[in-house]
Amino acid sequence: MCGIVGYIGPQNATPVILNGLKRLEYRGYDSAGLAVIQNSHIEIRRDVGKLTKLAELVSEIPVSGHVGIGHTRWATHGEPSARNAHPHIGMTGNVVVVHNGIVENYRELHDDLAAEGVVFSSDTDTEVIVQLVERFQSTGLGLVEAAEKSMQQLKGAHGIVLMSSLEPDKIVAARIGNAGGVVIGIGDHEMFIASDLPAILEHTRRVVFLESCQVAIVTRDGLTVQTLDGKPVRYKEQIVSWDPISAEKGEYRHFMLKEINEQVRSLTDTIAGRVDVDCGKVRLPELNLTPEFAKAISKVYITACGTAAHAGMIGKILLERITRIPTELQIASEFRYGDPIVGDNTLLLAISQSGETADTLAAMEEGRKKGARLWSIVNAIGTQAMRIADGYISMQAGPEIGVASTKAFTAPIVDLYMLAVLLADMRGTLGEKERRSLVSGLCMIPDLVGKCLDRHLEVEAVAETLKETRSCLYLGRGINMPIAYEGALKLKEISYIHAEGYPAGEMKHGPIALIDREMPVVVLAPHDPWYEKMISQIEQAKARGGTVIAVATDGDQCIPSLVDHVLWVPDTPWLLSPVVTVIPLQLLAYYIAAKRGLDVDQPRNLAKSVTVE
Ligand code: AGP
Repeated sequence: MCGIVGYIGPQNATPVILNGLKRLEYRGYDSAGLAVIQNSHIEIRRDVGKLTKLAELVSEIPVSGHVGIGHTRWATHGEPSARNAHPHIGMTGNVVVVHNGIVENYRELHDDLAAEGVVFSSDTDTEVIVQLVERFQSTGLGLVEAAEKSMQQLKGAHGIVLMSSLEPDKIVAARIGNAGGVVIGIGDHEMFIASDLPAILEHTRRVVFLESCQVAIVTRDGLTVQTLDGKPVRYKEQIVSWDPISAEKGEYRHFMLKEINEQVRSLTDTIAGRVDVDCGKVRLPELNLTPEFAKAISKVYITACGTAAHAGMIGKILLERITRIPTELQIASEFRYGDPIVGDNTLLLAISQSGETADTLAAMEEGRKKGARLWSIVNAIGTQAMRIADGYISMQAGPEIGVASTKAFTAPIVDLYMLAVLLADMRGTLGEKERRSLVSGLCMIPDLVGKCLDRHLEVEAVAETLKETRSCLYLGRGINMPIAYEGALKLKEISYIHAEGYPAGEMKHGPIALIDREMPVVVLAPHDPWYEKMISQIEQAKARGGTVIAVATDGDQCIPSLVDHVLWVPDTPWLLSPVVTVIPLQLLAYYIAAKRGLDVDQPRNLAKSVTVE
């Protein structure tokens, strides 16, 4: 899960590439590099650490030219270092490559090439690609044919971009399987290549997304697309609606804080155009849903990873409660190897912010193979999870840059709620009155979230008391149990505090042993069907001397006397309460991490889109 950028055109490629990498740094940030053809010679600059280090190096030893490629890395093979940073150059010095993904058979290829006298200068899997290309070139093949021959030998999933000083009029880009996207930006006599849209949007909105096993030959004036064995492919140009400003931090200190505060807009946008309040109806046209299929669905699997899986856990409750269709949440990395039972009318619903998470895409392919209907809820437009699905719901949350997902957690919960209402309506299992009340509840959500965001100072004060803690336990029940998992994940991801989310009813079966004066316990206790049970959980935790922080509903008379801190949320229809109860927990994790002086947007060891297994 790295960031790749390429440029060919009249401008100096160096600043274009550095800017593009800056916008993709959330994909990997342990080392970076670029290569530019300068005076028919490949010049490389690479360094370990954040992109600023590379920018400093380039300003110390400038390089300029009209063709170049660049990379920001999340190391899989070979520790983060300058020699393992991309781009990697072949022994002849004429060909250079940047890569996203893992060459699963790199050991055999490495040993074969080494046996032929190839000397490797890095510990990476990627370097075998460029050495392979040069080997095929030495048999007389041109760059494109040599690249295709090499790629046919690679196992695994890849995004590859390479160029040669012997053929400076082109850049070759390829996508094989699910290792993150490759998107081509079409400019005016200039072309842009990137692994994600934010690197291209400031230059053009005209884009082409490469499908798996496609190779693009990109020149100043256009591109041709072909299969790995050279057959021409017609490509589809798309116009992207996202604006580059939305990928800026604006007045916020961190993207995460900006994205938390964008949730009033993102939730308004995900509802906009899909809810007809007058007749209390929901419409989700991109699903291509027919009444016949709606009635025929016998089983739903929801599959996803990380935060998206927590949204899926809530989706299970919403679908079962509102439609009575048996629904199961399956973690994608388990589903893909779990030999799942899929029948004729099984629906597989994948959730993914990036739309490029390798495990989630593989789970979708597994479902496809077994005959399931594939739907997806995706934020990043035009990505694989959206393209390979039979129908999709776009989260419409806008670019999410902070690695810790926030607005792309609340948006899919609302999308799942709308889906449940639509399915129940089409199956005829939802009365008019109930349907209208469910829809009217939906329209209140953006304002209710706004109220939570206005209370950020109260949350910051609680964060001040917790910033030194070494661990934290999160407890929830029913529809707010996944919020306990999500609250804990947010704190883990960005503050590096060991935090555990747990079904509150399970506490007495073990985790209660953890509770003492040092262990803060965050409980989800809004007014929902599990409220009474949560009160006794709070009393059990207090009885062991725990410091208890409760998320509670405005006006609650009982909880303030029982706990140490209250994070108030407005009264919310319980089926939608997770969208509101998570807000103070997003802010709590944010403030604790910020107060610990940590890099909130680019936490260690993480990356925004996990495109390797
Ligand atoms: C969440 O904050 C993390 N970034 C991570 O758990 C993420 O949710 C997971 O990798 C899934 O990503 P996706 O939604 O892009 O598929």
